Amino acid sequence: AGPCDIYSSGGTPCIAAHSTTRALYSAFTGPLYQVKRGSDGVTADIAPLSAGGVANAAAQDSFCSGTTCLITIIYDQSGRGNHLTQAPPGGFSGPEANGYDNLASAIGAPVTLNGKKAYGVFISPGTGYRNNAVSGSATGDAAEGMYAVLDGTHYNGGCCFDYGNAETNSRDTGNGHMEAIYYGDNTVWGSGAGSGPWIMADLENGLFSGISSGNNAGDPSISYRFVNAVIKGGANKWAIKGGNAASGSLSTYYSGVRPTASGYNPMSKEGAIILGIGGDNSVGAQGTFYEGVMTSGYPSDATENSVQANIVAAKYAVTSLTSGPALTVGSSISLRATTSGYTTRYIAHTGSTVNTQVVSSSSTTALKQQASWTVRTGLGNSACFSFESVDTPGSFIRHSDFVFYLNANDGTKQFHEDATFCPQTGLNGQGNSIRSWNYPTRYFRHYTNVLYAANNGGVHTFDSATSFNDDVSFVVSSGFV
Ligand code: AHR
Ligand code: AHR
Ligand code: AHR
Repeated sequence: AGPCDIYSSGGTPCIAAHSTTRALYSAFTGPLYQVKRGSDGVTADIAPLSAGGVANAAAQDSFCSGTTCLITIIYDQSGRGNHLTQAPPGGFSGPEANGYDNLASAIGAPVTLNGKKAYGVFISPGTGYRNNAVSGSATGDAAEGMYAVLDGTHYNGGCCFDYGNAETNSRDTGNGHMEAIYYGDNTVWGSGAGSGPWIMADLENGLFSGISSGNNAGDPSISYRFVNAVIKGGANKWAIKGGNAASGSLSTYYSGVRPTASGYNPMSKEGAIILGIGGDNSVGAQGTFYEGVMTSGYPSDATENSVQANIVAAKYAVTSLTSGPALTVGSSISLRATTSGYTTRYIAHTGSTVNTQVVSSSSTTALKQQASWTVRTGLGNSACFSFESVDTPGSFIRHSDFVFYLNANDGTKQFHEDATFCPQTGLNGQGNSIRSWNYPTRYFRHYTNVLYAANNGGVHTFDSATSFNDDVSFVVSSGFV
C-alpha cells in the first residue's frame, strides 16, 4: 500500500498527494511531475517506473541531457486534479516576470529510494508552488491532516517554507486562514526548544509550536537528514508530530486545544495549497520537499504511524550531488572559459570582483595567483565544494544578488551556503558546469567577462539564454600556481 491507501483505509482519504519521488497510491501509474527544458521549452511528464513505484529519474536525465530543466507541475495523484504550479504574486511578488515565483531546478535535490534515484523539489528563496482552486480541501473549521517529507538540513529563517492549506487569493486575510506545515528556524512568531529548525504550524500571522504564541519548549529542534513533518487540525484540536523519515516512529510535539490567541478557534481555513512560500506569497524561505499529502478528516494516530512506517520502508537515502570531471579537495585549479572567442580567459579576480581574464604561462605571478583557486570541501554542504583564493587565503567565491564576489568567509550560514557549488558535467559537453548549491537553477556564468550566478533565460541580463551552455562550461586544470 501507499500512504494514501493507508489514509483511505483509516477513513481520512487524501484530497491531494504530491511527490516527485514516488507514487503515493499502490496502483498509481500516472505522471508525478512535469519538467520543462531550457534548450527548447519543451515539457515532459515523469511517471513512476511501475505502479506504486519510484519516479523514473533516468527519463528526466535523458530528456534534460545537455541543458537545464525546471519542475513546472507537481501533479496531484488523488484524482482530484489538485496540481501545484508556479505560484502567482499575492501580498508579495515573486522574482519572475509578472511577479510569479521561481520554479525549482529539476536536479537540486537528488536522492535514492530503495536504491533507485529520484529528485526532490529544492526550494530556494523566491521559489514557490500553489493551487488556489483546490477541490475537496478543508475550509472553515473542517478537519484535515497532512504530512511532508523534507530535507532537515535545508532550511532558513525566512518566511515561510510551508506545505499545506492557505488563502485562495494569495494574501494575508487574517488569523486562522491557514493551516500548513512550516519547517525552519524563523523565530518571528514562534519557536521551540534549542535553536531550531522546528516543525511548526503556520496558522496565518503566526507560526505555532504549541498552544501559545511564542516559545513552546515541547517542540524540539529536528536535525534528521530526512524529516517527516505532520500537522493536523479539527474543531478545537490540533497536533504537531514529527520523526526521522528514514527510521523509527513519530513523536507528538503538541496535541490539544487551539491557541487562545484570537482568530484561531474556530479556524477560517480557505483551502488553497502552497509549497515553499507563506500564505501571502512571502518568498524568503528555503527547504526541500520530497512528498506530502493533504487529507479530508482528522487522521488517527494509528493511521499516521502506518504512514510513517510506509515512508521508512521507502528507504530515502542521500546520493551524489556532483558529476563530470572530479575535483580534488586541497588542490589548486584553474577554470578556463569554453565560449568561442573567450577560450584564453580564466576565472580570476580583481579585488573583490570575480571575472575572466586572459592568462598564460607568460603572465605575471600576481595574475597567475588571481586565476588560481584552492578546492575546499563545500562550506555549506560537504558533498559539494567551495573555491578559496590562492592569493587571498580565507576569501572565497560567493554570490550576492547573483553577482559573484571574492569575500572573506564571515562564518555565517548564509556565507557558507552562498559559497557552495556542485560541479556537474559541462552543459556544452566540455569540462564542468558549476551549479550553486543554494540556487541550483544558477551556475557560474561569464557575461561581459564578469562572473554571475545565472539561470537559463531568466529575468536578469546575465541570464540570457544566448550562448548559455558555453558560458557556463569551464575546463578545470591545475592552478597556475
Ligand atoms: O503566519 C506566518 C506568515 O505570515 C504567513 O505565512 C504569511 O501569510 C504571513 O506573512
Ligand atoms: O545571490 C543571491 C542572494 O543574494 C544570496 O543568497 C544572498 O546572500 C544575497 O541576498
Ligand atoms: O563573457 C563574455 C560574453 O559576454 C559571453 O560569452 C556573452 O554571453 C556575453 O555577451
